[in-house]
Amino acid sequence: MTRIRAGILGATGTVGQRLIQVLDDHPWFEVAALAASDHSAGKPYGEAAHWQLEAPLPERLAGLRVDACRPGLDCDFVLSGLPSAIAAEVEIEFARAGYPVVSNASTHRMDGDVPLIVPEVNAAHVEAVEAQRRRIGGRGFVVTNPNCSVIGLVIPLAAIDRAFGLEAVHVVTMQALSGAGYPGVASLDINDNVLPDIGGGEEAAKIESEPLKILGRWTGDRFDDRAFPISAMTHRVDVRDGHLEACSVTLKTPASPDAVEESLRGFTSDIDALDLPSAPRPAILVEGRADRPQPRLDRDRSGGMAVTVGPVSRCPVLGFRFRVLSHNTLRGAAGAALLNAELLYRRGWIG
Ligand SMILES: NC(=O)c1ccc[n+]([C@@H]2O[C@H](COP(=O)([O-])OP(=O)(O)OC[C@H]3O[C@@H](n4cnc5c(N)ncnc54)[C@H](OP(=O)(O)O)[C@@H]3O)[C@@H](O)[C@H]2O)c1
Repeated sequence: MTRIRAGILGATGTVGQRLIQVLDDHPWFEVAALAASDHSAGKPYGEAAHWQLEAPLPERLAGLRVDACRPGLDCDFVLSGLPSAIAAEVEIEFARAGYPVVSNASTHRMDGDVPLIVPEVNAAHVEAVEAQRRRIGGRGFVVTNPNCSVIGLVIPLAAIDRAFGLEAVHVVTMQALSGAGYPGVASLDINDNVLPDIGGGEEAAKIESEPLKILGRWTGDRFDDRAFPISAMTHRVDVRDGHLEACSVTLKTPASPDAVEESLRGFTSDIDALDLPSAPRPAILVEGRADRPQPRLDRDRSGGMAVTVGPVSRCPVLGFRFRVLSHNTLRGAAGAALLNAELLYRRGWIG
């Protein structure tokens, strides 16, 4: 089979490197172009990137010349790991030039015709691409994946919502260092410490809004978002990879901790039949032990693509509580974008 050619925007960064890792030996896609800032453009990738992963940099890519992030890249679609401020213009330039853009950046996530997709939860939202193409004019478009904390949270929320209906959510995050990109947080700030309120409230605002779009529906001409309240408090902790979140929920219909756990274990999705190479099976792993999940022990389960949920117990304030863990640069970023690209390919929007 001729493989579809992927370009990576922001290829030298934390997410860009993970994209290279997850695309290595992919059955449908191959990396054909790597692009980063003008500072890196023109250099061989192995020289431009400060490679951070245990997995070795594929030799073929180490010698590939880094391009500037401008349309003209020799590829069929692009995966973007660009900073949000840069993504705002660059991703639209690529879409206007006819490229499908599969983005990690927050800039376009809440736009009125841009799908914000977690394939296990809202694969049907890809239909919004049709409306977006009409606006942009041409074959290009932007599809996004959510904030890295939202992905770990919204999959279990979708399972519980389907079974009992969600009325309110409160979540406290403990987010890994790699979530801040490279070089990230200064060691003297984070060593022996926890930093509250990531991004001056911006991270919490994403967690409070993005799940409402994802759990809503595409009506054919607009997104009809859900309206229940979500309260989020965010923290950066001294962990390399893996976001842990402590979550309490209020449900619309009566339930028990066992029944809530059963809804998580029994979670199935529309993409189960599509056989997407990066889809974890099952998407949710339920842990029976109260001292799990832990970032170091659980982040790599199912190739870093599953969400691990701890035991569900009664919360005297809101109803029920549990912890979730997901790998922030795999399930929360590069793996999420790749899964979106696989969904788009299966549905005929890429390739
Ligand atoms: N890290 C995570 O866990 C995570 C999770 C979900 C979403 N995200 C999102 O993914 C995006 C990337 O995050 P990251 O953590 O990978 O950031 P990062 O490590 O800082 O990497 C940024 C990348 O963008 C490139 N870049 C910077 N300025 C540019 C410019 N003016 N023009 C073109 N390229 C430019 C950099 O290239 P140079 O090396 O040449 O400077 C680098 O390749 C962000 O939008 C972030 O919010 C991150």
